[in-house]
Amino acid sequence: MFFILKVLFGFGKTSVAATCVIGLQWGDEAKGKLVDLLAPRHDIVVRYQGGANAGHTVVCGKEVYKLHHVPSGILAGGITNVIAPGVVIEPNMLIRELEGLEARGITPRKNLMISERAHVVMPWHFVEDKATNKAMVAGESIGTTNRGIGPCYRDKVGRTHAIRIADLSSDQLKIKITETAAAKRHMLAPIADPSDLELLDTDKVLQQCHMWANSLGSLAADSTNYLLDELDAGKRLLMEGAQGSLLDIDHGTYPFVTSSNASGVGVSAGSGVPARWITNVIGVTKAYSTRVGGGPFPTELIDETGQKIREIGREYGTTTGRPRRCGWFDAVAVRYTARLSGIHYLSLMMMDVLSYFDTVQICVAYELRGERISRFPCLAEDLRLCKPIYETLPGWNTDVSNVRKLEDFPTNARRYIDRISELISVPIGVLSVGPDREQTIFLASF
Ligand code: IMP
Repeated sequence: MFFILKVLFGFGKTSVAATCVIGLQWGDEAKGKLVDLLAPRHDIVVRYQGGANAGHTVVCGKEVYKLHHVPSGILAGGITNVIAPGVVIEPNMLIRELEGLEARGITPRKNLMISERAHVVMPWHFVEDKATNKAMVAGESIGTTNRGIGPCYRDKVGRTHAIRIADLSSDQLKIKITETAAAKRHMLAPIADPSDLELLDTDKVLQQCHMWANSLGSLAADSTNYLLDELDAGKRLLMEGAQGSLLDIDHGTYPFVTSSNASGVGVSAGSGVPARWITNVIGVTKAYSTRVGGGPFPTELIDETGQKIREIGREYGTTTGRPRRCGWFDAVAVRYTARLSGIHYLSLMMMDVLSYFDTVQICVAYELRGERISRFPCLAEDLRLCKPIYETLPGWNTDVSNVRKLEDFPTNARRYIDRISELISVPIGVLSVGPDREQTIFLASF
């Protein structure tokens, strides 16, 4: 209650330069919905990390849009959307995404800019992801989205075999592709499916690069200086995070993470916007937890309750269609990621999914080797051993999907919301009770 009052009476009056929307769990927190809603209050929306592994769903009335590269601001109209240097771009999929939007009457090319510094997911990255995804890490497969993300970031850091958007139109392209394709065929031959190696033929790859340059070349620009100029001119930016903080390469549940900085600390590196411009950080979390792919998940429910959450929440991956693992809200994990990401407000999503439970549980601490801990551990093998210590709250057994004001939530739902805010020590800024734009309650102004 304390935090909600704080929001209502004291917050939300800052002059905003850059607002960030950051996932606080393992991705799929419905960040796309929030970005779509906040976009009209900003001038530019920026995607700054991840790639086609992300699947951002935006529901506009009866229309459902599933975006992978294109920032969710594209549906707001008239707002510039930027794909910044930290994103890895799979051009075939981006082109298909643009064509899909065009087929539905949207003109994404009018207001989309792609950083010439962004790296390209090349055919060999898919071959490598597929070949290495079977590998066991600490006894479990990472279970990537098979979109070539890890191999592309690996080459970016390695530098010798990387291709950037600017390279696609460079007169050095033929030399780079010839050398890199030959090196990749050689490296991947012992581990890849022989039929996949055919995709790495130099001429075929070069042909694709020319097609990509023709289609995307006019969108490529120096987004770094563009964003800095626009900030100097007083424009408002909305930074759209992909995945979630627990999948952050440096701070997440390593090695069961993605290959970019998916927490709040990744905003500046990926976008080129320095910290001094970041005025508002919104942490997005579901009212429960989900995870796709491998890795420890202390509050996972492998029972009827988990299945009930999955079915009511339609918890199946946007990108891969995989059923998501479901569990209770983990306040230990979210307290950690909220601090790490420097959150000013929480956006608590999917409250409607918990409408019909007699009791609901919140994990408030873990038991690790007989000891109660409230810090999120570093080692995946420790997290795997953590047993959740739950606080049980009464459920509200009422459909809240039509609630539009905080006061109209049933008392037990209010208690649940307040308890989460209290445990994370962050005020609630937004509540969401369904996928539609109208099913959103703003408690702060952004
Ligand atoms: P990658 O990003 O495809 O390499 O996958 C690494 C891990 O991150 C896997 O467990 C994926 O399931 C997970 N992951 C990647 N992107 C997303 C996302 O957008 N939502 C949820 N999980 C994701």
